[in-house]
Amino acid sequence: MSDTTKSFYLTTPIYYVNDVPHIGHAYTTVAGDLLTRWHRQRGESVWFLTGTDEHGQKVMRTAEDNNTAPQPWCDRLVEQAWKPVWKHLEIANDDFIRTTEPRHTKRVQAFLQGLMEQGYIYEGKYEGPYCVGCEEFKLPGDLIEGNCNIHSKPVEMLSETNWFFKLSEFAAPLLEHYEKSPDSCQPESARKEVISFLEGGVSDLSVSRSTFDWGIRVPWDDKQVVYVWFDALLNYATAVGLTDDPSSDGGKFFRETWPADVHLVGKDILRFHAVIWPAMLMAAKLPLPKKVFAHGWLLVGGEKMSKSKLTGIAPSDITNHFGVDAFRYYFLRAIPFGSDGSFSWEDMAARYTSELANDFGNLASRLAAMVEKYCDGMVPEPAKDEELARALSKTVESADKSIVALDFQGGINAIMDFCKAVNGYVTLQRPWVIAKDASKKGELDAILYNTAESLRALAVLLHPVMPISTAKLWSYLGAESSLGSIASQKIAEVAKWGQLKSGSKIVKGEILFPRLPDLES
Ligand code: ME8
Ligand code: MG
Repeated sequence: MSDTTKSFYLTTPIYYVNDVPHIGHAYTTVAGDLLTRWHRQRGESVWFLTGTDEHGQKVMRTAEDNNTAPQPWCDRLVEQAWKPVWKHLEIANDDFIRTTEPRHTKRVQAFLQGLMEQGYIYEGKYEGPYCVGCEEFKLPGDLIEGNCNIHSKPVEMLSETNWFFKLSEFAAPLLEHYEKSPDSCQPESARKEVISFLEGGVSDLSVSRSTFDWGIRVPWDDKQVVYVWFDALLNYATAVGLTDDPSSDGGKFFRETWPADVHLVGKDILRFHAVIWPAMLMAAKLPLPKKVFAHGWLLVGGEKMSKSKLTGIAPSDITNHFGVDAFRYYFLRAIPFGSDGSFSWEDMAARYTSELANDFGNLASRLAAMVEKYCDGMVPEPAKDEELARALSKTVESADKSIVALDFQGGINAIMDFCKAVNGYVTLQRPWVIAKDASKKGELDAILYNTAESLRALAVLLHPVMPISTAKLWSYLGAESSLGSIASQKIAEVAKWGQLKSGSKIVKGEILFPRLPDLES
């Protein structure tokens, strides 16, 4: 198949709908949104998938605890909590998959049937511990005094006749895969963890359950439902047409999309994505995802923030105070992607004030005020400061390299360093002093043009991170009518100096990052 139409395909985990989203879920989803927006601005065709994981005992029991049947429970949470939160955070996903949708369930059944026919599924007895919080069959080494090492809660002892997947057959080929291609699992610490796990040997996996019925029926055995992780992992492929006839629209879409370029996950679910999922694909003779990236945890009091430990912070708790753009900016700017990080109001407030309000927001307000005062609010004649232009070229190159490699902190830093350089330029040139000398009008115009042009570039480069404020800035700069929408601006063109048209109207607009309300209030 030709690869010319292959999309950049990125996925987030599909989240359990046992509760509403917290900032841990938002962290992954915002990271995926930044990366896909960046790739779109690179001119690539992009497919960005997120969704919800609705089957299994964890969701079923939560629904029961709330005296609701599981389907209406999921419907309500998805429509009233999950989708609205992503909308609020400006997530531009192309699709949203729910594992209870027929497009998913029928493809999961077809896939499982295929593995059965290929001889990868057999009937056996599972005996051992299971953690409903993890929805995972545990090994004795995973337990601490009989409790799950993640949820610190007692595990349940299962003894069931189930259908098994011959996972053990894939340990050797997977090991070879991860040793050969360092890009396939990142960061490096995650790849090492997967390699050492595989070296320890892998047992076959029970892929069905018989003691409850909230799941997808095993096609040849109506007493069993598909194990929730086997069901959930398949979402990445069912959402883009897995198992559809190659000549159908679904089959064509699958060829244009699969394999995924990046599965973005938290490190809690690395093994599912780096061991079970690629083994399922190998068994079906499908290409493996190009990269699984396991980011770190947001910590509260030194522990992973979580719903089950009631340490979840809702995104709106933060956006009510700092706004959506600052929320999107903060976590990716402050925490190296791949490491754990603690959230602190103080650190967030400090960065908001110094980086967003002072460095970025003030630059925009100062420029608009000076253009209004000295140039009747019109962009002056084009000029070019060679040093700024060179700095911008370097910035674009370095930001692009970092962001494409999922080093969001490095990429944002590069852009914000350019913002600092522009502030330095304005401070050094002192346009308010030059303005006092009428004979220096040409010089004054040049300084303001260079500053406006730098802000044009900053708006474009920061758009994937902060879509709301950069779109405002874009309209204040009067760029829309001559250059088109901000989202259509290409990364490869940003550093081309001289794009803002003289005579366009610059308006002052509202302050992009207003002073923070008092934290105590
Ligand atoms: O595991 N810090 O769903 P889930 C950073 N349904 N990220 C966090 C986080 C934290 N404290 N807490 C959650 C599941 N996340 C399965 C996935 S995929 C086929 C099925 C993020 O609701 C992070 O991405 O428990 C983590 O991997 C995911 O939410 C787990 O969400
Ligand atoms: Mg979880």
